[in-house]
Amino acid sequence: MNNIKAIILAAGKGTRMKSDLPKVLHLIQGRPMISYAVDLARSLKIKDIIVVVGHKDQLVKKQLAKGIKMAKQSRLMGTADAVMAARSKVGKLDSDILVLYADHPLFTKETIDNLVKRHVKNQADCSFVTAVVDQPKGYGRIRRDNYSRVQEIVEETDLIGHDHDIKEINLGAYCFKAKSLFSALSKIKLNEKKREYYLTDIIGILVQEKAKVEALVVDDTAQAMGINSQDDLAKANQIMRFRILKDFIAKGVSIIDPSTTYIDSNASIGKDTVIYPFCVIEADVKIGNNCRIGPFCHIRPKSVLLDDVQVGNFTEVNRSKIGKNTRMKHFSYLGDATVGDSVNIGAGTITANYDGKEKYPTYIKDKAFIGSDTILIAPIKIGKAAVTAAGSVVTKNKNVADKTVVAGVPAKILSRRRK
Ligand code: UD1
Ligand code: CA
Repeated sequence: MNNIKAIILAAGKGTRMKSDLPKVLHLIQGRPMISYAVDLARSLKIKDIIVVVGHKDQLVKKQLAKGIKMAKQSRLMGTADAVMAARSKVGKLDSDILVLYADHPLFTKETIDNLVKRHVKNQADCSFVTAVVDQPKGYGRIRRDNYSRVQEIVEETDLIGHDHDIKEINLGAYCFKAKSLFSALSKIKLNEKKREYYLTDIIGILVQEKAKVEALVVDDTAQAMGINSQDDLAKANQIMRFRILKDFIAKGVSIIDPSTTYIDSNASIGKDTVIYPFCVIEADVKIGNNCRIGPFCHIRPKSVLLDDVQVGNFTEVNRSKIGKNTRMKHFSYLGDATVGDSVNIGAGTITANYDGKEKYPTYIKDKAFIGSDTILIAPIKIGKAAVTAAGSVVTKNKNVADKTVVAGVPAKILSRRRK
């Protein structure tokens, strides 16, 4: 994006969360809240991103990627004070500046992209995002004049008379001309009730000065939510979860029951794959095309399932790779396993990958047939087209050669297969 910088406010305590963890580090679908605003700014190709930190700043810092600048707000004196804390990191005031609150993770890229584009096109001094909602409580309200022109933002604590009827709220995403921002910022007075400097006062100041102020009203009110409490966090998690599922559905994945399906946004799933109810698919999982997953299946990080794989009821796959057309349909656990193509893994098969101290790998080669209730004690290799009979316990390092049939506890060679 052409010559634009971003300031993200993340210094607040988040008192209303009733938690020791800084608010912006609470997780939404597995990712810290702060990462949503930062990634949004990055997705708009904004190179200069300054995050304002304060409360437990060292903890927040750990979550920030390299290349993100930080500014410290030494005393938490409100959102205007927080922007001021970033002043020295901004440098020359010759750009536009996007200001985002780190506790507003539900904005879409489209909304903020739109905000910036319209701001640049209109050469406004300030453009900001609003929404008309049924429950405006807790948010800054937009006062407009009889011609519907924005006048100012009034915070909840300062509402009087008809302000209580206003349904249009401030969502805390603004784009400013840098000069207009910092000159108006220095005119904001302390709000006596809250002993804070409100960034929102800047709108009234700019309007008074006849600067160009524009509101972008978004229709999708799901984006309107700021996260202040655990209740908000739970709701935001839910909204984000369905957004992620919708993305997968749009890419050709069939999700039979979205209300019982949990998929991390970092997972990748090929088309024509069907996810049956009650499945959890975590980050860094890759699933190919035309697979059948679940019901009741847990696929944990760093697992890869190639095309046409079927993993069924009560199965768990952890840090494992499963080759094409392999089936593991009932009650099984694969941990640290590398499984070839067209393998059949019978009901109740377990890889015993952990001896209480270390984790060990299991290899199962193409076309092997693992009988029901086999226990594979790792480290272990099962050869190509080898067979384990039902109930076998294959002990560690007793590798099974290609085409060999083993049975018993501990498993012993029974025979060799011809084909
Ligand atoms: C703010 C807006 C309100 C808007 C709402 C949208 C102000 C005064 N009010 O209210 O109009 O409707 O967001 O969700 O801006 N922060 C700091 N330093 C501070 C205080 C806050 O960095 O000293 C950060 C917080 O970490 C948070 C963000 O600014 O990420 C917003 O602060 P918060 O106190 O949650 O503002 P709201 O009361 O929600
Ligand atoms: Ca807030």
